[in-house]
Amino acid sequence: MPAIEVENLSKTYRTYKKAPGILGAFKGLIHREYEEVHAASRVNFSVEEGELVGFLGPNGAGKTTTLKMLAGLLHPTGGRARVLGYVPWERHDEYRRQFSLLLGQKNQLWWDLPARESLDLNARIYGISAEQAGRTVDELTELLDVRDKLNVMVRELSLGERMKMELIAALLHRPKVLFLDEPTIGLDVSSQKKVREFLREYNRANRTTVLLTSHYMADIQELCERVVIIDHGTIFFDGRLEEIIDRFADFKLVTIDREEPENPIELDSLGEVVEQSPTRVRLKVKRDRVVPVCKELFDRMPVKDIDIEEVPIEDIIRELFDRKSVPERPRV
Ligand SMILES: Nc1ncnc2c1ncn2[C@@H]1O[C@H](COP(=O)(O)OP(=O)(O)O)[C@@H](O)[C@H]1O
Ligand SMILES: [Mg+2]
Repeated sequence: MPAIEVENLSKTYRTYKKAPGILGAFKGLIHREYEEVHAASRVNFSVEEGELVGFLGPNGAGKTTTLKMLAGLLHPTGGRARVLGYVPWERHDEYRRQFSLLLGQKNQLWWDLPARESLDLNARIYGISAEQAGRTVDELTELLDVRDKLNVMVRELSLGERMKMELIAALLHRPKVLFLDEPTIGLDVSSQKKVREFLREYNRANRTTVLLTSHYMADIQELCERVVIIDHGTIFFDGRLEEIIDRFADFKLVTIDREEPENPIELDSLGEVVEQSPTRVRLKVKRDRVVPVCKELFDRMPVKDIDIEEVPIEDIIRELFDRKSVPERPRV
């Protein structure tokens, strides 16, 4: 049985439109018009135990909404989901003890307590013995390099330190399933790296099932073999990260080192010129044009070396989101 099973999961938010001004407010009392936002619309995927899956999509795609439904914080308006066999929004106590949701944009620790006390409180809420909690805190603070910050008030921790403590709080009860919503957002590069390494090791050692959203492609590339991509509430890709290149990359990068320094020549007809110096030419070329373009370049200049690369996956995904985020209906 997969750890996470999602079938046609949908969430429609209704928000009331308010006409401007006092008259609008009165009208609103009499008959309310509302707008519907299809935040998640027939979402399907499943995740096996121990998998670490990246959940990607542009802003407003429906990632947080989906994670909140899987954590039982929101009721769906349609479809089904089971996590570890539980229906999340039925909020079984046994389910609560087996998963965690970390929202990177929200604090879950007590602001006015030292980190250690905040963690102790969390442990008590989950009914974890002081001894077990102590062991977990020792181990995880060591791994995340915040051992010496346990007595600092949460409000005085740096963002990176605080997020590490949030992560420890989320892991105190040793959940089997972990939903991480932007756990590295806004962190400095070294904290980001630390959290990333920690997650990789933790997932490996504990076989925790992880569903992770992040704006940072470095997180995704280093952690996830598989990604699920959502936009406008709908899944449009579910597969291996490298497959994105095969499916969506329209271009390759062709780099030519010239035999002799030369003056620039006209190359715009061959592709997008990324770089042209006396000794080097770099072009972004349509995939199906790579061979003829290389032939043409060989004809035009003495070539010392040639290199053909894939466009970085980060660029492909960015382009993909830009393309997909064009409003589907024209605005009036
Ligand atoms: N409480 C809410 N009420 C109305 N609309 C909402 C609410 N929460 C989210 N939305 C809308 O639902 C869509 C998906 O949001 P969200 O799940 O937060 O996306 P993501 O996490 O991918 O950025 C967006 O259009 C957002 O504006
Ligand atoms: Mg979000």
